[in-house]
Amino acid sequence: MIEGILFDMDGVLIDSEPIILHAAQAFFKRRGIDTKAEDFRPFVGAGDRRYLCGVGALYGLDIDFDVAVVELYELYEEFAKEASSFEGVHRFLSDAKRSGLKVAVATGSERRKALVNLAAIGLTEDDFDVVISGEQVIKSKPEPDIYQLAALTLGLPLSSCLVVEDALHGVVSANRAGATVLALPNSFNKEALKKAGSHVVLDTLADFGTFDSKEEFNRLLNAAIQSMGILYGTQRIAVEKLTEEQRTSLFEKAVAAAYASRNNAYAPYSHFKVGAALVSGGSLAVYSGCNVENSSYGATICAERNAALHAVASEGEVGFEMLVVVSDDSPPAPPCALCLQVLAEFCRPETEVHLVDTSYAEGKGGAHITLRFSELLPHPFIFPSMRQS
Ligand code: THU
Repeated sequence: MIEGILFDMDGVLIDSEPIILHAAQAFFKRRGIDTKAEDFRPFVGAGDRRYLCGVGALYGLDIDFDVAVVELYELYEEFAKEASSFEGVHRFLSDAKRSGLKVAVATGSERRKALVNLAAIGLTEDDFDVVISGEQVIKSKPEPDIYQLAALTLGLPLSSCLVVEDALHGVVSANRAGATVLALPNSFNKEALKKAGSHVVLDTLADFGTFDSKEEFNRLLNAAIQSMGILYGTQRIAVEKLTEEQRTSLFEKAVAAAYASRNNAYAPYSHFKVGAALVSGGSLAVYSGCNVENSSYGATICAERNAALHAVASEGEVGFEMLVVVSDDSPPAPPCALCLQVLAEFCRPETEVHLVDTSYAEGKGGAHITLRFSELLPHPFIFPSMRQS
């Protein structure tokens, strides 16, 4: 369930790309350099330091950004007066606040520029629970640091955060952080944003329906994600929309099934027993498997692949909503790379993966780690003709 929204600022809240471009071009013009708009393109979304210095390097100009930034932002403030917000921003933001969602800005821009931007579209810092700006992290987007810091400051795990982005670097950063990503094609085309890992791409925030509760917001978001049809491999199964209660009960069923299957593990060589269970999104049936070792070690089948084959043998083409793996390891074992590649054929990026130890399965506390499939295998190999458009 999403509990907080982390907004990128430039190109999401405010149409600032033309402003910073104007300012930066004016900066170079004062130094006798005529830059082209395309020069700046590779640096969009990577923070102002790289935006200015990157283009400086193209023209052999060594820029001391800490000095140059004062002049750049003076120029920026002049041009910012012409700025406008994107369609739907104010309505989406006020719906989010009314619904009790936490809201943050996480921008690679420096604080001074962030405040100029917010003011230009009639907002202030007080409209957000926190405004994180570029100088608060060492590594800028596409590193995940800024979104990690924003989520930490809000007191939310990244799995409960939606990031709203417009730039490819930003989408990658948010993905690395483990957030769900809604992208707007204000700076890059939809296909590129989708390829970079966005879960939803909308033309504008005005296309996101109105909402006045967290539940309604999550319902709309899930519907938007489903309609994108971002699937791995051959998984074309219509997935039931699960309620939280259904999810909890399926999880409990899958833990019990994986634990029971683990007892049947055939592991005379490693003595390492593993149980797995997969929930089919189409039928909501639970399929389990254990590891089966072999005298020829390489012929060993892991619990996860056993469970996946069990599901396909029972249903044919299948789509998995949830995977549970039970082992007696600390931390509990994740699926190996071979199993992930096999599972990628039938999972969605959002498929839940629960790693638990035997104590947890026995109801004695223990460890339980929740991940989404794409965190374990962000880049599966999918045969070209099988890729979803
Ligand atoms: N194994 C699994 O079944 N699943 C995992 O996630 C990791 C490893 C099995 C394979 C082998 O039988 C034993 O654990 C030791 O590698």
